Amino acid sequence: MQIHETAFIVSTYRSYHQELSKDIYARLWNNPNTDLLIPSILESISKDEAILHSLRNRFFYEQMYAFFSKNNGGTLINFGAGFSMYPFLLNNTVDTIEIDKKDIIAYKKEKTMHWIREGKLPQRDIQYTAIDFNNSSEQDIHTTIQPMIHKTPTFILLEGVLFFLGPDTTHKLWNIFKEIQSKGDLVGSVSYIPEIENTDVYKRLLHYFDTHNDTDDPFYHQTLPHSFYENLDRYQLKKHIDEFDLSKIYAPDAEIRDRTQILNEHMYILQKS
Ligand SMILES: C[S@@+](CC[C@H](N)C(=O)[O-])C[C@H]1O[C@@H](n2cnc3c(N)ncnc32)[C@H](O)[C@@H]1O
Repeated sequence: MQIHETAFIVSTYRSYHQELSKDIYARLWNNPNTDLLIPSILESISKDEAILHSLRNRFFYEQMYAFFSKNNGGTLINFGAGFSMYPFLLNNTVDTIEIDKKDIIAYKKEKTMHWIREGKLPQRDIQYTAIDFNNSSEQDIHTTIQPMIHKTPTFILLEGVLFFLGPDTTHKLWNIFKEIQSKGDLVGSVSYIPEIENTDVYKRLLHYFDTHNDTDDPFYHQTLPHSFYENLDRYQLKKHIDEFDLSKIYAPDAEIRDRTQILNEHMYILQKS
């Protein structure tokens, strides 16, 4: 399993629960290789993974929709964008900067431009930039992204990425966010809390990655306590919810009964002060 394969997997999850995720374009990324991988993941780790990822997408979609509607547009800056399709789901007053590793960005740019030409996706103002957060300096990332921002306010999204990053890269990214954002701008972030490390379901996840990691990708298993978000310099924590509570709002029939039996990610919305 390579880290970029995780982008195909979560996108396919969203396509399985389109009514929940609201991602009507996720299915465009579906492919036989990912379809083959998913049953064994759901079976060996947790059957609820597809619903939980769809809930995560739904939460950020609603947050961004509300933010950009209130501000009549702006720029979404998606760090580790993978195959998420927010630019096409949000209004055309929103510009997007998609950032990810080289292979993902090249493939996503080619495919989305092709689908726009075919009329399968609506026209949007999207810039794509390939950056490896581990290998690029704070200064380089800052000077690459800053000139790409043509519309304010900004909403930075860091969804499904922190798990793969170490503390130095995480610290670097939040410094960059602070530099490129202005007062009132938002960041949406996702992470696991350290308590999950004691659960069987999380141990099964790590075991799965350990036994399927066929690359030299540096791969952390980062978890972050709430205090990380409460103590961020120049950011105020505005909202926090976990997937378990999201399931009660959006998927009450899914019968997810126990926080400790699922890979329960936590979502945070922070505002620049
Ligand atoms: C699980 S996917 C999530 C994708 C997307 N945000 C979503 O929620 O659908 C993780 C993404 O993080 C990207 N990523 C991981 N480590 C990265 C790094 N060091 N630099 C840039 N992107 C990275 C991967 O390439 C992948 O697209």
